[in-house]
Amino acid sequence: MWVLFDLDGTLTQSEEGIWNSARYALNKMGWPEPDEATLRKFIGPPLIWSFRELCGMTEEQATAAQTVYRERYNTIGLFENHVYPGIRYSLRCLKKAGAQLGVVTGKPENATRRILEHFGLSCFFETVVCATDNKADKELMIRKALPEDAGEAWMVGDRKFDMEGGTRAGIHTLGVTYGYGSEQELTESGAEKLAHTPREIAEVICPETKGICGAFLSMEGLDGSGKGTQLERLLDTLKQYGFEVVLTREPGGTPIGEKIRGILLDRENTGMTDETEALLYAASRAQHVREVIRPAVRDGKIVLCDRFVDSSVAYQGGGRQMGIDRVLEINKHAVDGTMPDLTVYLEIGHRKALERRCAASEPDRMEMEAENFHARVEDGYHQLIAMDPERFAVVDAEGDRDGIAAEIAEKVLKKLLEIEA
Ligand code: TYD
Repeated sequence: MWVLFDLDGTLTQSEEGIWNSARYALNKMGWPEPDEATLRKFIGPPLIWSFRELCGMTEEQATAAQTVYRERYNTIGLFENHVYPGIRYSLRCLKKAGAQLGVVTGKPENATRRILEHFGLSCFFETVVCATDNKADKELMIRKALPEDAGEAWMVGDRKFDMEGGTRAGIHTLGVTYGYGSEQELTESGAEKLAHTPREIAEVICPETKGICGAFLSMEGLDGSGKGTQLERLLDTLKQYGFEVVLTREPGGTPIGEKIRGILLDRENTGMTDETEALLYAASRAQHVREVIRPAVRDGKIVLCDRFVDSSVAYQGGGRQMGIDRVLEINKHAVDGTMPDLTVYLEIGHRKALERRCAASEPDRMEMEAENFHARVEDGYHQLIAMDPERFAVVDAEGDRDGIAAEIAEKVLKKLLEIEA
């Protein structure tokens, strides 16, 4: 089986870059700015056609507009773009079902390949057919993409050009309603089936294929390591790549876990014994693993967890001096074999972390601990990393935020793309 995909509006939501670049070109050429409805129609057809038919330019003017458009699009506009959440899930299902995949797009080849490469999608596709010389006849492009003996084949797209081209090429058509064409446009142009979400593409074409697993990521570091900021940054990046992310935290992450968190961090609970503390963290974790982490990973999602069992080992094992082995024993049933595929550790010296904490908010019960407590926590983390270096991505967290975010993104994406492969 072969499944061919249109790019803009089907695999990627690309309007920001396209609209900004179209506005830029019209502006530079002294042309009036088109309204939003007109701009929407720019997505899909070849540019020259859009400038000519939608803006009323002559062929010559449209060619000049295209050159100006590309000045901006090829440098910035290309990446003002994201993969629709759920696309990666459908692509993985189709691959698992034995389908061969292709991209058929009215975009030029260079831009198409850069986008697929940037978002780590290239490896899914056996063939990429793009517009040449401003000709983007979808029927011809579809015929070019398919081998003689393709067998069952589908064209998946969001515009009438995709549905009409697919029909004329004699293959099945699936219209996606989350893109830039309306449901009416798709049905009127002969869509055989519709998908209202990216996940539905696989549900329509290969309904029996299940069991696509996601991944479990955690982030660790001393209080004051900048974990909160970096989690948000990583979340944004993963979303741009089309991963479906569940952001969660420990202690907490479930209604029961959040109540336990309240007890653990309450500054008035001064009499809490070390055992009680370790067991409460483990209890919150037991609930979290079963209620949130495992179901999400089994559903193909990426769980991004702010702290996990490593925090117990470092804080209770190291900080409270309960010992690594004892804390691991306490957590055995809570974790029950569910461990992160990758743990990002934000490396920061405990004195530097303390400076940052003092400059920030009121400390909670754990943050109020003495400096040597946090020194032991740091040491606990170092022991953990030495025990399992493969699982940890250690990132220097003392530099500038952008650099740290870029390093984390690179390491995490590498791991996720490996898992997908
Ligand atoms: P965190 O949510 O990182 O704190 P904040 O809300 O200030 O960002 O974590 C709460 C505190 O709980 C933190 O000091 C670390 C501690 N902790 C443990 O001691 N053991 C554990 O198992 C976990 C998950 C957290």
